[in-house]
Amino acid sequence: MSKSKAPKVVFVCQQCGAQQPRWMGKCPDCGQWNTLAEEKAPNTQTDGSSRSGFRMREVTPLAYQEIESQDDARQPSGIEEFDRVLGGGIVPGSLVLIGGDPGIGKSTLLLEVADKLSNIAGKVLYISGEESERQIKLRGERLGIKPTNLYLLAETCLERVFQEIDRLDPQAVVVDSVQTVFSMKLESAPGSVSQVREVAGQFLMLAKNRSVPVFLIGHVTKDGAIAGPKTLEHIVDTVMYFEGERHHNHRIIRAVKNRFGAANEVGVFEMTGRGLVPVINPSGLFLNERPVGVSGSVVTACIEGTRPMLVEIQALVTSTKYATARRMTQGVDSNRVSLLMAMLEKRLGMHVLGDDVFVNVAGGIAIDEPAADLGIVAAIASSFRNLPIDERTAVFGEVGLAGEVRATSQASVRVREAYAMGFRRCVIPHGNVSGLDYDDGIEVIGVRNVADALEALF
Ligand code: TYD
Ligand code: MG
Repeated sequence: MSKSKAPKVVFVCQQCGAQQPRWMGKCPDCGQWNTLAEEKAPNTQTDGSSRSGFRMREVTPLAYQEIESQDDARQPSGIEEFDRVLGGGIVPGSLVLIGGDPGIGKSTLLLEVADKLSNIAGKVLYISGEESERQIKLRGERLGIKPTNLYLLAETCLERVFQEIDRLDPQAVVVDSVQTVFSMKLESAPGSVSQVREVAGQFLMLAKNRSVPVFLIGHVTKDGAIAGPKTLEHIVDTVMYFEGERHHNHRIIRAVKNRFGAANEVGVFEMTGRGLVPVINPSGLFLNERPVGVSGSVVTACIEGTRPMLVEIQALVTSTKYATARRMTQGVDSNRVSLLMAMLEKRLGMHVLGDDVFVNVAGGIAIDEPAADLGIVAAIASSFRNLPIDERTAVFGEVGLAGEVRATSQASVRVREAYAMGFRRCVIPHGNVSGLDYDDGIEVIGVRNVADALEALF
């Protein structure tokens, strides 16, 4: 009757995807305000048949030892930095999400990958809902690519896209972007949570069924989550984000989730007039413009994924002009900095808590390792005392609240990287000294606490 004919609506939270029967100001699931949007409920009667595409191939249980191992089947993309982030190449049938701010280089990177892949692996389909084929070609010409097997499709309807994939039978698919594609099965607007989830789910099935890799480009909202949400991160196999700022020339891509490799692995690229160029030696890039003989600057050895990287930590300590002192950090956790400052005040009698303190990691990279603690402490102390740290000395180590310096993982790798980059002295945790494997050309000083470390540095 008339009641059953009226289209049923639901209110879907655009942050977490939870559904509510009526509008509310605050999502009861994730607690966000003003995120519920009205969407038409999917027609559940016909769902059984229309969702048949959602089913995987017919399957029966398989004995573990009879399943073929896949690791040797990884396909190199032709761009080493990109392969590194993926964990050593593209896994067939994997669904990869690439997120980042607008204009940071997602389309550029994927076009380069599509080009290289089309030359070595076979047909690649690049689906764009944002640019026409000609605009993509224009970009390709700027990049100087000469693909032989690359196909472009400017289409946003999922069902049409699937038809073309059936017809073309590509070896890899790029979707730019997942927010522009919509399924005719749902009546909500493209980019809404239900659409994005449906589209990602369908591409997941496609990837697994056809055993082709699918790359989804996703926009990131102001507050950092991939728009249309966290649900997407659960669906896909690998999530990578562009890190850093648009104003720097280099771009850092980090795998925040990877079912086929180490999470937190990073790839470093430089944006040039001819697209994104891989950076072979990131330490060199980050130390490039380092000021020499200036107080408040120190180099610390971090591990990003499986790779050592030297970065410069800068601190500025000035007497405050305000009622409350200011703390600002970029690239390091501000809570961590506050904690280390309190430790300096209490354990070393360094009166920094009443001063304005700014801490910055040069080059726009973010480090969240505790091994950077000693670097932060040294930079703050150097600025506070207005004494520069020797430019050929690097530090690393985790600092505890008692002022003790604790051992970190992979100390040998860090020291060797410092040596390779021309450093001649390393101040490291005492606990790491025994069993350290390093070159003779570098002097290693093991310290037990922050006081010892500062003595060794100044
Ligand atoms: P784009 O890949 O379109 O960003 P996204 O898809 O993430 O929105 O990158 C656009 C930016 O990159 C733009 O600001 C110009 C710059 N760019 C270069 O500097 N060199 C190049 O060769 C290309 C193609 C783009
Ligand atoms: Mg783009």
